Amino acid sequence: MSETEVAVAPSPLLLTDGRPAAGAWSLDPALRHLNHGSFGAVPLVAQERQAALRAEMERSPVVWFPALPQRIAAARIELAAFLDVDAGDLALVPNASAGASVVYAALDRRRGGEIVVTDHGYGAVTMGAERLARRWGGRVRTARVPLDADEEQAYEAVLAEVGEATDLVVVDQITSATARRLPVERIGAELRRREVPLLVDGAHAPGLLATPLADATYDFWTGNLHKWGCAPRGTASLVARGPLRDRLYPLIDSWGAADPYPDRFDQQGTVDATAYLAAPTALDLVERTWGWPAARRYMDDLADYGAHVIGAAFARLTGDGRPVDVGMPVPGMRLVRLPDGLAASRVEADALRDRVAHELAVEAAFTSFAGLGYLRLSAHVYNTAADYEYFAEECVPVLGDWARENSGKRSAR
Ligand SMILES: Cc1ncc(COP(=O)(O)O)c(C=O)c1O
Repeated sequence: MSETEVAVAPSPLLLTDGRPAAGAWSLDPALRHLNHGSFGAVPLVAQERQAALRAEMERSPVVWFPALPQRIAAARIELAAFLDVDAGDLALVPNASAGASVVYAALDRRRGGEIVVTDHGYGAVTMGAERLARRWGGRVRTARVPLDADEEQAYEAVLAEVGEATDLVVVDQITSATARRLPVERIGAELRRREVPLLVDGAHAPGLLATPLADATYDFWTGNLHKWGCAPRGTASLVARGPLRDRLYPLIDSWGAADPYPDRFDQQGTVDATAYLAAPTALDLVERTWGWPAARRYMDDLADYGAHVIGAAFARLTGDGRPVDVGMPVPGMRLVRLPDGLAASRVEADALRDRVAHELAVEAAFTSFAGLGYLRLSAHVYNTAADYEYFAEECVPVLGDWARENSGKRSAR
């Protein structure tokens, strides 16, 4: 949307009984929740389902645990249907970090021990790649992808780092700090041709993309169901289709070790797996109430509106409220440029998130890329236009003051 266009606020989504959508969640009404993307939010029905499953477990542990692998396998079938993948390709893991760790633990150095990542990669997943490269006696090569790179430029930037020594490439499907897509399908097709394994970090993809694995030609993909899918936390998927998948083992060695992929992931010793079992309840809530396609449309329209009103509020302070061009945008997420002096590094961005939560009662995500600070918006069905209008009116002027204070302190140094 251009600056001159008038932003239209989407009408808030309602529950079937007419209450606002937020009534299905237990989020604190004293706070504004503008950051679904970081940790998700679990609807009450899924919390209740998980509590009921826990009660069942505690009533009769000796009946519960032996039957658990079959129940996890059944949950896997439902979750695979949501992602439109074959349940035989999908293992459940606690989170996307675990999905990446499983892949890192499985691979051997075959060539020069180099791992290619991008400068948009999620820090913790990149740190895992660095550790693996050290173990291999190799190194990590970082592809620099300009924030506004289009598909072709992003593809070229990643492939430019791939060579004879490459043993693994790790690319985000949707990036965390920069809320953009990377052309994983195209990168995957070329890497398959060169026989270089690709791990796609799809942490944000389930729920946000209708079919995150359509056209996938890569070896490994991991995605969180506890982000946009709103599943109880500790629910993520690992999808592996190529020949290398037989090397994948769960992080906890257990009784399933002799079983084939992915069945062996259904046994993880004595753990509380109720999050996996309650995850379909969360997906069903959105499906039954609005349908996922309509929910996704709402989230995208709302994120657009939010970026527009907040961008305009910053423009009144700084003169610059242009929407940030991220090259390959994602539905439901937007970046808004912060004034200079705010969130110039990840540490500063995290400190700003904490200060805004404590002093302004708003949960928001601040990110940093190439030394510049951004507000990352991620809208879910329980958000409304009023959330973003509040941020624009109440928080933007304060952020402007903080930016000036910080810039003043820096120039005084
Ligand atoms: C791109 C990306 N990868 C990985 C993760 C890690 O997810 P988790 O903490 O659930 O393992 C995140 C979390 O925000 C992410 O955005």
